[in-house]
Amino acid sequence: MHSINAERLIGRIRELGDIGRDAEGRLTRLAGSANDKAGRDRLVGWVEAAGLEVAIDRIGNIFGIWRGEGNAGHAPLMLGSHIDTVINAGIYDGCYGVLAALEVIETLKDLGVTPARPIVVAAFTNEEGVRFAPDMLGSLVHVGGLAVDAALATIGTDGAVLGEELARIGYAGNVEPGHLQPHAYVELHIEQGPVLEREGTAIGAVENLQGISWQRVTIDGVANHAGTTPMAMRRDAGLAAARVGLFLREHIARSNAPSVATVGTMRYEPDAINVIPSRAVFTVDLRDPDEERLQALEAVLADFLARVAEEEGVEISVERLARFQPVVFDPAIVAAIEASARTRGLKSRRMTSGAGHDAQMLARIAPTAMIFVPSRDGISHNPREHTEPDDLAAGANVLLDVVERIACSG
Ligand code: GLV
Ligand code: MN
Ligand code: MN
Repeated sequence: MHSINAERLIGRIRELGDIGRDAEGRLTRLAGSANDKAGRDRLVGWVEAAGLEVAIDRIGNIFGIWRGEGNAGHAPLMLGSHIDTVINAGIYDGCYGVLAALEVIETLKDLGVTPARPIVVAAFTNEEGVRFAPDMLGSLVHVGGLAVDAALATIGTDGAVLGEELARIGYAGNVEPGHLQPHAYVELHIEQGPVLEREGTAIGAVENLQGISWQRVTIDGVANHAGTTPMAMRRDAGLAAARVGLFLREHIARSNAPSVATVGTMRYEPDAINVIPSRAVFTVDLRDPDEERLQALEAVLADFLARVAEEEGVEISVERLARFQPVVFDPAIVAAIEASARTRGLKSRRMTSGAGHDAQMLARIAPTAMIFVPSRDGISHNPREHTEPDDLAAGANVLLDVVERIACSG
């Protein structure tokens, strides 16, 4: 049984986690930003130093390719995740999977192993989707789910065009997306939820991932004086918007389903203390592991918006930002993850991913699965995100075992 170099892995996670901090120490590397460039440059430096071939495709996905001797005719095993972050992020989300993939490759190289197929570390563009929608955009383009030119034309929340931003930071590569069709894809990630820590379980063998629906809702009412307009005479876009988040929470509680709903952004116009909002623009993120239930939740939301429009005297329009169906991962890779955990004396459990991941896209073109490790207090998308060093090492060692099983067994 081999082991990765935990010190090297954790050192790199911390080093990458220091790139892109503002004066208050907040970490933000939004896709296509100058901070993203700085993180990418550091990653590419490590990939080159490891002796891997670097390929950058037109949507900015970064690939570090280890072509062992005599395996040229074989489809590669792909490992990876993303290094873009949310606003005021933690240091593990995505970066752990990319750097552990590199660590596994370097470990195998150090051991003198000759893989039976190329092994690739991938860092996909704009997984988070904070600046450009949809999320998982780079991996979606990689699997052919979105044309590269359409993806490059995506307008960000700040009005920037993704293609122009990638060119500006030097990551508009020239390789056609999808040039590497993997034999299999494995992604290691922090759980970002409370299950593993609560149970004292070291390894999550992720067997499925829930569906994701992102919509942007615009409500138009009428601006008027906050002091003089009687409550019954208002067409208040802000109040109408506020009803939506509350309704979703109450509906899900009543339905007893595992669905989750989040209103994560909200913007009022004119955004003034004494003016009834004429416009509210907000996002709704709905998720459920069951496609039918997710569709039903979307329909319930649509009905409620129609009712609110009627009752509040406002106009409502909806734009779809992302829609991904739930996926079921490859049972053989899930079993290989469990077998590795067993051999190493690590407690494991099968689980569903609540977060979206590039694996959700890769599962469209190759057998895919994910490995999770515990997140302290179940916190993520937050600077308090933390995973214990032993857990980070354990997850990377399980990834190493799975890689050896898939790519080094001849
Ligand atoms: C990605 O982090 C997502 O699940 O939104
Ligand atoms: Mn992630
Ligand atoms: Mn994330």
